[in-house]
Amino acid sequence: MSRYTSNQYQAKQADAQGVIHYNDIEHEIWSELYQAQISLVHRHMVNEYIEGLAILDLPNHRIPQCSEISEKLHNITGWQVEPVPALIGYDRFFDLLANRRFPAASFIRTREDFAYVKEPDIFHEIFGHTPLLTHPQVAAFSQAIGELGRNLTADNHAWLARLYWFTIEFGLIKQHNNDTSDVVPMGSGLASSPTELIYAATSEATERRPFDVMDVLTTPYRIDIKQPIYYVLESFEQLSAIAERNLLADILQARKMGLQEPHQALAMAS
Ligand SMILES: [Fe+2]
Repeated sequence: MSRYTSNQYQAKQADAQGVIHYNDIEHEIWSELYQAQISLVHRHMVNEYIEGLAILDLPNHRIPQCSEISEKLHNITGWQVEPVPALIGYDRFFDLLANRRFPAASFIRTREDFAYVKEPDIFHEIFGHTPLLTHPQVAAFSQAIGELGRNLTADNHAWLARLYWFTIEFGLIKQHNNDTSDVVPMGSGLASSPTELIYAATSEATERRPFDVMDVLTTPYRIDIKQPIYYVLESFEQLSAIAERNLLADILQARKMGLQEPHQALAMAS
């Protein structure tokens, strides 16, 4: 999501032809991130993410333009990637999703933020998000979140954002192999973080809960620490089932229930 307060990073502006220019150091950072991440995602991410990555065939030595990705993505699921300033509000964010346009912050992180950047950067947006936007159920779910979100009043936005956070951004999913299944990372925030991907896939210090809409809607999260709780989807079909629910009623119910107590790890990190 592209909605966090940015102090350090400035949006990169496109030129008259719509091209965003990056310097050599910025391309180098992309290249280093790509090299750090490519074997890790092959080892840990869900198969459908890897399939999407292969379809998009992202460049490894330079930052791609959003228009290059859009050209391929549009032919597959109708999605496009739209460069936006580092800061956009929920209204614009949900409206873009509703129109199958993925808002992409255009700057790239510095080396100091190599492992994880709170403010989503172009590596997170492209490498993290776009491979699964080739998947029909992720594509439809993301659009459904946008359609609901743009019709919500502002006081409900953060409630819906938790559903997006615990699926698209930091979700885990069961990968079924014949008679067995493994729990594997699916979320974009994991695919684009060298440290949190391994943590989410292998750490025994984190909690992995079965996905439950009401539980998710009432679970607080922080953007600046590794997640102490992940939710595990049964399958990509479950995303379709979630999108078909009356999510507005779920949000209203969640508001009556109130947020759960923050996990101990959230409190300790304060
Ligand atoms: Fe994101």
